[in-house]
Amino acid sequence: MKILVLNGPNLNMLGIREPDVYGYATYADLCRDIQAHAARIDVEVEIYQSNHEGDLVDKIQAAYGNVDGIVINPAAYTHTSVALLDALKAVGIPTVEVHISDVSLREDFRQVSYIRPYCLKTVMGYGFAGYLMAMDALLEATTCK
Ligand code: DQA
Repeated sequence: MKILVLNGPNLNMLGIREPDVYGYATYADLCRDIQAHAARIDVEVEIYQSNHEGDLVDKIQAAYGNVDGIVINPAAYTHTSVALLDALKAVGIPTVEVHISDVSLREDFRQVSYIRPYCLKTVMGYGFAGYLMAMDALLEATTCK
């Protein structure tokens, strides 16, 4: 099984950006946690981060036929991007939405997620562990078919 982990804008600034919200661990720490978990559950993983919406769309399109599941934290694009929703619908790959913070407890503009209706589930508020939970959920969903 191959999982693609996608991260949107400003997540490369983890450890620096708003540590009161996102903590002091860095993006490199996140990638290490994801790789270690992939090895533990015996899945292949590719991790990609971009600050550009079109790059994320390209990456989702390129996943077609090559990836069994997607974990996506679209960051700010969660709340704005029809293009990411359409890309996910186009490829039809099982997807789990992740947020490091609990967006349900934050500003009104963060209460909308354009991709959520497409996703198998949403994991929010568990920090980096949420990515690992999302990987487990994909593994379970795809092996239970
Ligand atoms: C985030 C929450 C978003 O609202 C925000 O724009 C982010 C990160 C999270 O992981 O908690 O950049 O997706």
